Amino acid sequence: MKKATQLSPLRNTTKHEQAEALAIEQAQHFGIDTRSEFGEALVELATTLYRANHHTHDLWAITMDGLADLDRNDRIAWFNAKRFLSFQLAKILDNLQNPMRATYQSIATKNGHFAAKGAYPIFDNVAAIFSASPVITRTATYLFACTEWVEDAFNGREPLHEIYSRLLNPTSISLANHIVDIEAGDMADQYLAWNFNSGMAAIDGLLSHLLGREDIVLASRNIYGGSYQLLQDWYRKSSNLDVAVEWVDGYDAAAFAHALDAAAEKYADRISEGRKIYVYLESPCNPHGFVLDVAGISRAAHERDWVIVADTTVGTPFLHPVLKRKDPMERPDFVIHSYTKELAGSGTTTAGVVIGRNEDMFIPKGDSVTTSSPNGTPRTVKWDNTLFWNVYYIKGAFLDADKAFEVLNGMKTYELRVLQKTINTLTLARVFDLHPDINVSCPALPESPNYPLMQSNMRLGLPAALFTIDMEGSAGRPAIDPHAFKQFFDMLEPAIGMQVSLGQTNTVALCPAMTTHSELSGKAREDAGIKLTTLRIAVGLEDPRMFIAHMQRAAEITIDIKHTDFSTKFPAPEMIDDIYRKTYLDVQQRFVEDLPSYLTLMQ
Ligand SMILES: Cc1ncc(COP(=O)(O)O)c(C=O)c1O
Repeated sequence: MKKATQLSPLRNTTKHEQAEALAIEQAQHFGIDTRSEFGEALVELATTLYRANHHTHDLWAITMDGLADLDRNDRIAWFNAKRFLSFQLAKILDNLQNPMRATYQSIATKNGHFAAKGAYPIFDNVAAIFSASPVITRTATYLFACTEWVEDAFNGREPLHEIYSRLLNPTSISLANHIVDIEAGDMADQYLAWNFNSGMAAIDGLLSHLLGREDIVLASRNIYGGSYQLLQDWYRKSSNLDVAVEWVDGYDAAAFAHALDAAAEKYADRISEGRKIYVYLESPCNPHGFVLDVAGISRAAHERDWVIVADTTVGTPFLHPVLKRKDPMERPDFVIHSYTKELAGSGTTTAGVVIGRNEDMFIPKGDSVTTSSPNGTPRTVKWDNTLFWNVYYIKGAFLDADKAFEVLNGMKTYELRVLQKTINTLTLARVFDLHPDINVSCPALPESPNYPLMQSNMRLGLPAALFTIDMEGSAGRPAIDPHAFKQFFDMLEPAIGMQVSLGQTNTVALCPAMTTHSELSGKAREDAGIKLTTLRIAVGLEDPRMFIAHMQRAAEITIDIKHTDFSTKFPAPEMIDDIYRKTYLDVQQRFVEDLPSYLTLMQ
């Protein structure tokens, strides 16, 4: 769209380009006599606005050209100068309200059933632009400027006009912009996000966008039970999409490279007919919190020109910043979060998001973009192959403003929560590891087979707040009697919530075999390392010693009846205090030492 005509009600059909001619045409479009006093004032103001819009575009171009070379002082100055301009523009709008309201009152209040119309929001919403938190836009519909602008909106060419809240709403857009900034950092301008009503809706939205009939999915074995079920029971079903699903047991790039080559051979017929392979990962993954080499696996997928998706809900962008890798070969094509978990943080809402490269997420209707794949292969993406038009615009599981607001609120504190939870997780894993009847599966323990990958992939080598324990016996000691274990598990409240989910402020525990992973067959469960007494602990913010003390007491009245010394085998109280204090100080120290220096902040 031409910047000269952008503000015109006839922006797509006008023959004029000059500000004054456009202003006169605009007045006439609304039936105003341009020689009247009102007409003259209107044309004068509109002419100024057309010119102002020109200058705004000039400022935009100068910003885009110059920003990268500015020092910090100039950036601060430019930002605040433009911030002040926003208030000036809003003040003009505010000044317009008084004459406009008077005219409105002189017409509308005389109508029958005036109240049914509700308040006219343009009058009152101007100041809401400056609400210190994003505004909750609780509306199904939006006011439009005029026919040509709304036509543009329906073609994805007018971002000022939301059409309908199921499709987009400003609160959800605010959240989408924010998660992109957090997830992609310096590269945020290359990415876009679309929010969904839950994590599963995000996963299904993306898979239904990507997968065609008889495509092939290479999925990590250790994914959330719901994602497993979606792939295995829906996408794989021959009467649905007949997608071939191959499960990969490993965590590193070599395992996935091998599986990719094996799949390419096994499904050579499908591939020769144009079917594609997609890689689907979760890292850190359910239920043990094991980490996958997302960067290495992304490279392996891109070398073979396949698309890769990573659900990084459990680690959050704070611990597992998979889109911040400099080399695009090492970044997954799409990242998924269930906001329900750590990002929202309090367990009071469900929501999810897909983050992807701009050209895969949105292109205005009718357009296409020529770009290159991460491996440099040229590719052209058409508008109807973007997530927005292919799925988001035509399906219905999208995030409403109230939930978007709740997630935005939760995200303000998520980094602090995640840091505290790594301390609690390390403490619990270290203490349980000293008990001879408790087997701990946590990548933070140096003897864990996943320890090296966790160290190389997670920020500061810190674990996500998810791990498992089981009591299936080890080193010559027998497994804990299943009945005693059940009694013990039923005594864990109120110290530990017997709840599903993870990433809440409170610690919750469940038996995956009976809950999150109950959809898996016995064999699939075994392959995923889930035993009948496996207890998945999603660590919260409480003092972890409170949890250990409760477990010890609960064991005295349950497990000890069959295994008399179980409760006495916890480490001594002083040792538990010592582990907690040392862990706390060590993590905080590593974190503070890793923060940018004051000199860096000054740059
Ligand atoms: C890793 C992971 N991804 C996705 C989901 C699904 O998210 P939601 O419950 O928001 O649908 C879950 C739920 O537990 C999960 O653990």
